[in-house]
Amino acid sequence: MKTKIEEYLKEVENFKADKLESLEDFRIKFLSKKGLIPALFADFRNVDPSERKEMGQLINTLKNSVQEKIVSLKEKLDSGSDSKSGTLDLSLPVNASMGSRHPLSIVRNEIIDIFSRIGFTVSEGPEIEDDFHNFTALNFPEDHPARDMQDTFFIEKDPDIALRTHTSSVQVRVMESTQPPIRTISPGRVFRNEAISARAHCIFHQVEGLYVDTDVSFADLKQTLFYFAKELFGEETKTRFRPSYFPFTEPSAEMDVSCNICGGKGCNVCKYTGWVEILGCGMVDPNVLESCKIDSEKYTGFAFGMGVERITMLKYQINDLRLFFENDLKFLEQFKSTY
Ligand code: PHE
Repeated sequence: MKTKIEEYLKEVENFKADKLESLEDFRIKFLSKKGLIPALFADFRNVDPSERKEMGQLINTLKNSVQEKIVSLKEKLDSGSDSKSGTLDLSLPVNASMGSRHPLSIVRNEIIDIFSRIGFTVSEGPEIEDDFHNFTALNFPEDHPARDMQDTFFIEKDPDIALRTHTSSVQVRVMESTQPPIRTISPGRVFRNEAISARAHCIFHQVEGLYVDTDVSFADLKQTLFYFAKELFGEETKTRFRPSYFPFTEPSAEMDVSCNICGGKGCNVCKYTGWVEILGCGMVDPNVLESCKIDSEKYTGFAFGMGVERITMLKYQINDLRLFFENDLKFLEQFKSTY
């Protein structure tokens, strides 16, 4: 009897279960009415009285180890900690939340997509720029306020190195390295020394565009931007151009779109005018072409630039620009898009 029990003890020790069913078979084998342990207790009657104490203890040890084994294996199988357990419940609902794109990325991608459809390529350039690419090549007069510390984050003086104040600097780089025809947009982050408020930030995003070729006219500029506004804000959108001034374009204009919130009837977003300004534009000043070694007698071009924050605010009716930078999930999770 002793050797039998010792064999059983070994068997219990080595037993492994990968399914609840095999654990149940194990329980039946040892503990059920017709199982091995009740059989041992039945045999116990025939044990010589001198051996009874030892045999009794051995049978109890076996019983305990079977019970312990069952409890520990069951725990393991229930928690699924055994990777081979096969008890993974594939029908459980997934509660991990999906990330979503930042609203500024959604709108930037949409703008890129609209211009890509009419042949514009995307170009990028450095955020830290020298004076030539950010100002001089763009025909900024020596005493222009943008060259002042108040508007620009300078990193070094003489020679001037600054954080770019617009992505027009990228277009200078494109014109320097490519001869026309040029048709490109430059999305990117820009920096201006402004107090942070609901309507302004010292870091924001732009998409600027440039088209240089023979016979490019103001009519081409208007048609391109008209197409863009309708694609972005909807077929019903109207546009209007107001004269403006930029050092690098002549003539220059600002483009308004009919307010997409009130449809032009007047609301607090458009300040009851029915119109909202979305971008600056104009015909590239011949001085700019010459600075970039492009023959201004042969070629003409148009350029435009817009702030992504402003357009996103209009599109989604967001009234505080600071929300874009706070990364509050409650805000960000509202934006789902294929862009
Ligand atoms: N660079 C101008 C800005 O940052 C925008 C602009 C680009 C205006 C091209 C006209 C033409 O405000």
